[in-house]
Amino acid sequence: MIRWGVVGTGEIATRFAQAMKVVGDGEIAAVTSLSADPAMACADTHGIGTRYDDYAAPAIDSSIDAVYIASPHFRHEADATIFLRATKHVLCEKPFALDAAQARNVVTAAREHGEFLMKAMRSRFLPSYRTLGDVVRSGRIGDDCPMSITVHTFEGEEVIDCSFEGEGMRFEIAEVHRCFGEGLLESPTMPLDETVAFAAMMDEIRAQIGLVYPVDLPWQPPTRAGSAPHPAPPSSP
Ligand SMILES: NC(=O)c1ccc[n+]([C@@H]2O[C@H](COP(=O)([O-])OP(=O)(O)OC[C@H]3O[C@@H](n4cnc5c(N)ncnc54)[C@H](OP(=O)(O)O)[C@@H]3O)[C@@H](O)[C@H]2O)c1
Repeated sequence: MIRWGVVGTGEIATRFAQAMKVVGDGEIAAVTSLSADPAMACADTHGIGTRYDDYAAPAIDSSIDAVYIASPHFRHEADATIFLRATKHVLCEKPFALDAAQARNVVTAAREHGEFLMKAMRSRFLPSYRTLGDVVRSGRIGDDCPMSITVHTFEGEEVIDCSFEGEGMRFEIAEVHRCFGEGLLESPTMPLDETVAFAAMMDEIRAQIGLVYPVDLPWQPPTRAGSAPHPAPPSSP
């Protein structure tokens, strides 16, 4: 049984908790929040035994195997790195990081500590995506849609059913568990080099259109609780 810690109690954390209920070999052992009330409410709703009001607490909880980062994206680099350094496996929501430099820092931490790390790209593990990959690899040409794929061939039309019930995030969780079982430190379906390359591409797009994030500006200390654009000064290489 893989024991998960969940960081954050928002919308996507709720969906993760729902999905975990139908994944047989995992459970959420702890949920952590910036404050006690959301952690308490989330734990009560989903039957989670341990609740923390300190984001870093699961790092020193030896009963936790893996951590799902569901905090806002400006926290991802800092949150993921804490747990990787504490030798926890990490599944981190997207956007994986604010830029390629942050993404590289997280990947480096995972590789240095020999921990599994993956960007939570849920759609890549859905039955329709996998079936579409099979169709493309088989040389047939088709159109994809979330629940079925229609393949038009010279012989006619074939509709391939890819439907499923419930929360599709369970396929992503199952992939992480499969990787754990096979001792893989990254998923071949969502590789870390691709995650960094994607962040670099987004950096290039931002540069070309002149989009500047608050984190790109010189760091300023927060003026009031919760108003800091990012939790710490920009990370060093
Ligand atoms: N919702 C989706 O469908 C979806 C899809 C793909 C990716 N994501 C990604 O998942 C992450 C979380 O998204 P979400 O939709 O779950 O967001 P959300 O509903 O706004 O929840 C975010 C959670 O992060 C925690 N948090 C920590 N620092 C915070 C701060 N300064 N301001 C606000 N919240 C803070 C809060 O939990 P505590 O107060 O308990 O700490 C809050 O419940 C984001 O990176 C997002 O891009 C979400």
